[in-house]
Formats: sequence, structure tokens, C-alpha cells
Amino acid sequence: MLYSLPYFQQHLDADLERVNAVIGKAVQSEVALISQIGSYIISAGGKRLRPIITILAGKVLGYDDDKLYSLAAMVEFIHTSTLLHDDVVDESELRRGRATANNLFGNAAAVLVGDFLYTRAFQLMVGSGSLKILDVMADATNIIAEGEVMQLMNIGNTDISESQYLQVIQYKTAKLFEAAAQVGAILAGADATQEQALKDYGMYVGTAFQIIDDVLDYSGSPEQIGKNVGDDLAEGKPTLPLIYLMRRGSAEAAADVRHALTHADRSYFDKIHAHVLASDALAYCTAQARQAAERAAACLEALPDNEVRRAMRDLAELSVARLS
Ligand code: IPE
Ligand code: IPE
Ligand code: MG
Ligand code: MG
Repeated sequence: MLYSLPYFQQHLDADLERVNAVIGKAVQSEVALISQIGSYIISAGGKRLRPIITILAGKVLGYDDDKLYSLAAMVEFIHTSTLLHDDVVDESELRRGRATANNLFGNAAAVLVGDFLYTRAFQLMVGSGSLKILDVMADATNIIAEGEVMQLMNIGNTDISESQYLQVIQYKTAKLFEAAAQVGAILAGADATQEQALKDYGMYVGTAFQIIDDVLDYSGSPEQIGKNVGDDLAEGKPTLPLIYLMRRGSAEAAADVRHALTHADRSYFDKIHAHVLASDALAYCTAQARQAAERAAACLEALPDNEVRRAMRDLAELSVARLS
């Protein structure tokens, strides 16, 4: 999706090669099952969006040292560990076009290897020698955990407000995007204004990205997104398309959504999917995502005007236009 942009065509392969070299080394363990499961999920690919944001945040300010790539890999490790845990919690069976680790190796192994990647990430941070980065990431990972628990508490909650939903996605998803950008800023020696601008950029891109992820759970296909569609409904997750239907959809749609959320079951998917498509729900969600992306783009004004900044602008737009 992202990678057709001219800047990425020129630089991305080389940048990701440097990140992947760190990842490949850091995923190794004497315990064979750890390397096996770790490599299984990491080699399946993924968009590497968060490490790309770290790299862009460093480069936009002219920083391009090895540390940038090592900490970009650290960010991807945090992300990957949350995916391993998230798929257990969500009982998901497909990820990155493959069986999830929990599906293939069982919940226990997936959780424990998630812990390994998580703690390996902290080893990489300590290796950077920056207490500030450690501080940022300790706070971010703590918030992500709060977001996932807040989401759990809202399973089946048909009264959730849009602002509660936004808080959940800012915690569980946007916070890591924010931290990813902030790490690049810190490494580059950003001043306070630039650091704040990069943090906000990450937060808004992450918000747009998660809203679209929630849209794709209704409008995408497994081939496109590498995940099964309908996982959110099967779990009773009140995401934005459903919040919209409960508040502004037809009386019938609202009643059906309430029923489906409180009786979480995949068998309701076709019916709810039809309501989503017959309404303005997806247009509304996309407009919300677009607004967040525009805010992200506006943050870039505080940064030097160069080709990296232009790539960051394109990336914000693509977080809405993406198909996977
Ligand atoms: C999945 O993130 C989890 C969400 C926050 C929606 P990505 O869609 O970035 O996952 P990969 O890394 O590309 O597989
Ligand atoms: C992902 O939320 C958030 C984290 C992994 C912390 P989702 O549950 O929506 O992500 P997918 O759809 O499984 O990738
Ligand atoms: Mg999930
Ligand atoms: Mg999702």
C-alpha cells in the first residue's frame, strides 16, 4: 500500500534491510521454540509501519545513525509482542495471511513468546543508553496495556460513546505510533516543539490507522488484510461503525447491532455487515479517519521542509486510503 510512493521506492528497501538485520539477530534465543515462533510471525512480514515512522522522524531532522534502526526494530518488537497477545485475547486465527501463533502453537506458547519479544525490546532500549527513551517506552507500553484492558471492559457495551472509543484506540494503538515518532525525535536531538509535533503526528496517524482497521473488519477481505473479517463482531467489540449504527442508523439496524454485541457470535456477521453497507457508517468512519490524518499532516508544519517531510505527509494520507 504505502510503498508505491517515490520516496519509499528509493529508500525503503535499504532502510528496512537495516531494521530487519537487527530484528533477525534479536529474535534469536537458545530456546528453539522462541526463535521458531518469533521468526514465524516476524518473517510473515507486516507493514513495518511503526519502525518506518521512527526512521522518518529521525531522518526528517537529519539523523540517520545505526541507533535509529536498532530502536526502530525495538518498536516493531513491542508491536509484534502485542499482536501475539492480542490474537490470544481476540481468539483470532489468521494474521499476516498465516495461521496465528496461538492457532498453530497454542495460547501458552504465543503468550510466552510475546513476553520474550516484549522484554527483548527493553533490552534493546537499555542498549541505546537513553533513559529518556526508556521512560517514553515504559509509559507507552503501560498505556497500551491499559487500552487493551479498557477495551476488554467494553466488550458487549452498547452504550459506549464515541469519545470512549477514541480513548481506547488512542491507548491501545495510537500511543505506540506516538512513541515510535518520539523515539526518532529524541535520537535526532529534536527541540521541544519538534518533539511535540512528531509525537502528535504519530498519535493522529495511529488514530486514523485504527479507525480504518476497524472499518476493514467489515469492508475488507481476508486476502486483502491478511486477517479474518468479522473478528471484532464475533468478540462483541463495539467499534466505530457499530457505534454509528447504534446512534444514527435505522431503528432496525440499531436493534440488530445491540443484539449482536450482547450475544457475541460470528453468525450475526452477515446481517450486521449488510446494515453497515446499507448505511453511511463507513463513510462516517472514513471521514473521522481523514480528519485525524489531516491533523497529523498539519503537525508537520513545525518540521523542516524536505523530502522526508513530504513522505510523512503521504504516509498520513495513506493510513486512510490503505486497503490492507
Ligand atoms: C495491526 O497492526 C494491529 C492494529 C493496531 C490494527 P498492523 O496492521 O500495522 O499490523 P502489521 O504489522 O502490518 O501486520
Ligand atoms: C490491535 O487491535 C491493538 C493491539 C494489538 C494493541 P485489534 O484487535 O483491532 O488488531 P487486529 O485487528 O487484531 O490486528
Ligand atoms: Mg485483534
Ligand atoms: Mg482489528
